[in-house]
Amino acid sequence: MCGIVGYIGEKNSIPIILEGLKRLEYRGYDSAGIGIINTTECKVVKTKGKVAELEKLINKGSIHSNLGIGHTRWATHGEPSMVNAHPHINEAHTIFLIHNGIIENYATLKKGLQEEGYKFKSETDKEVLVHLIDHYLKTKNNLFQAVRYALNEVEGTYGIAVIYKNEPEKIVVARKGSPLVIGIGKNENFVASDVNALIAHTSQVVYLEDGEVAEIYKDRFHAKTISDENIIKEIHEVDLSIDEISKGGFSHYMLKEIMEQSDSIFNSMRGRLVLKEGISKLGGLQGFEERIANSSRIIISACGTSWHAALVGEYMLEEYTGIPVEVEYASEFRYRHPVITKNDTVIFISQSGETADTLAALKEAKKKGALCLGVCNVVGSTIARDSDAGVYIHAGPEIGVASTKAFTSQLVVLALITLFIARRKNLNMSEGQEIIHEMHILISKVEAILKQNKEIEKIADEYVNCKNFLYLGRGYHFPVALEGALKLKEISYIHAEGYPAAEMKHGPIALIDENMPVVFIAMKDSVYEKVISNIEEVKARKGRILAIANEDDDYIEKLVDHVIKVPKSINMLQPILSVIPLQLLAYHIAVKKGLNVDQPRNLAKSVTVE
Ligand code: AGP
Repeated sequence: MCGIVGYIGEKNSIPIILEGLKRLEYRGYDSAGIGIINTTECKVVKTKGKVAELEKLINKGSIHSNLGIGHTRWATHGEPSMVNAHPHINEAHTIFLIHNGIIENYATLKKGLQEEGYKFKSETDKEVLVHLIDHYLKTKNNLFQAVRYALNEVEGTYGIAVIYKNEPEKIVVARKGSPLVIGIGKNENFVASDVNALIAHTSQVVYLEDGEVAEIYKDRFHAKTISDENIIKEIHEVDLSIDEISKGGFSHYMLKEIMEQSDSIFNSMRGRLVLKEGISKLGGLQGFEERIANSSRIIISACGTSWHAALVGEYMLEEYTGIPVEVEYASEFRYRHPVITKNDTVIFISQSGETADTLAALKEAKKKGALCLGVCNVVGSTIARDSDAGVYIHAGPEIGVASTKAFTSQLVVLALITLFIARRKNLNMSEGQEIIHEMHILISKVEAILKQNKEIEKIADEYVNCKNFLYLGRGYHFPVALEGALKLKEISYIHAEGYPAAEMKHGPIALIDENMPVVFIAMKDSVYEKVISNIEEVKARKGRILAIANEDDDYIEKLVDHVIKVPKSINMLQPILSVIPLQLLAYHIAVKKGLNVDQPRNLAKSVTVE
């Protein structure tokens, strides 16, 4: 999941591309490069490391060009290095290509081209494409057709941008599986992997669909299908501001996104709760009300943090709607030949709306006739566009690779969907009103937790040198334990496991000694006493215990080493509160270890390859 940016117009493309690449660095940041063509030169500058390194290299020279493409990489084939960085170049040094995705049949294509005499410089799968375009340029005589013919031989996924010395008036772009948007300006046009990279210049965008290729000139563009049919593309207005995608004075995007959860949670429910009738109103599900309510089964499919939200959703939906719910890892679901019928509703949760495994699972479920609903954050993302209906979570742009505010907003939307269905089943108006009342008072409870940021930072001091962690919870808080462990893993690189607390006795208890911190989510709900017994079992083996507990729980303080108190809510909403201290704990431990919290190693914000 790399980041692509391109510019053609009258301004100098370099600063525009560098700025855009910095805004896409959460997609990949192990190497970067830029390629420009102007009347006097065709130049490529690339480097291992972040865009800032590339900028230093470029500032040494004085490069200026109205046409350029740039790339920030997340390595899939070939280690992060200068030669494996993009743009990839043909031998004649006239074609520059940047790519996001995976060319699955690159080995076969490479062999054919090598037999034709082509020499390869890099270890990547992508380089094959620039040589294939070079091959077709010999017979097709224009870049657009050469790209089209080359892509017809490719298996896999791509979002590409290509420039050519002999046609310096255009950028040719194409997409299959990886996101690509065209930004429409006045006498200038842009291309990028997502709108964050071009929002500083225009709010007019065109979303390229799978199998579409486009020629972008400074004052126009035209798109065709990969089989050369003309297509008319709609221009969309995106409602996003630069402020929303900047750090807003916080040291990290992750901390900003954690601290803005009282707003993001409010935005996720704004205008969707009708207290008078005790119902939730979800315009994105209009026309599907009865089909959803009469589903014989609900399947929720997702990856990573979104999968943890799906698990909480399972508890909510089964408790309130009585419809059987299954939760599926999208990466397994897509290949498992799942039994799906048209009476099934499948919900796909994805913050980015571009996760390749979730997208493929959606295609699979659609093929089998199920009703497919998307729960996404990024407006206009592919999963949102390809679903039959859906609900945006409106958490605002989430830049930090470790998902935080999107998770709590996903839980809010799952609660809204639960209310939406349950009020069409057995939940009566006053029960609906009680849930809505509890949702309304969530905001002040979230603020009360965020105010403990400094205390949680102090607690983090006690655990920063730990090598392993165990997170334990029951019921609604088992998925919260999984999410807490994931947050710590992905940004502090400390090994951590989440488990249903009762499962501890069936193995993990062997890990417990004075060096193993155990984080318990111990809310005062129907299984509280059970969790307390589990705490006793850990104490008996000298485990260090940090508990997330309710404000009115004085008993637990005597049992554990550290406790973080959160306000009480109803069971189905309590995970929205209990997860926030775990986000802050992971954040502070990682910061104290001096790690790059926003761009943790080996990770990327949206996983657009398998
Ligand atoms: C979470 O912090 C990670 N960034 C990752 O697990 C993420 O949740 C997963 O890749 C799914 O992303 P999505 O919600 O954009 O589909």
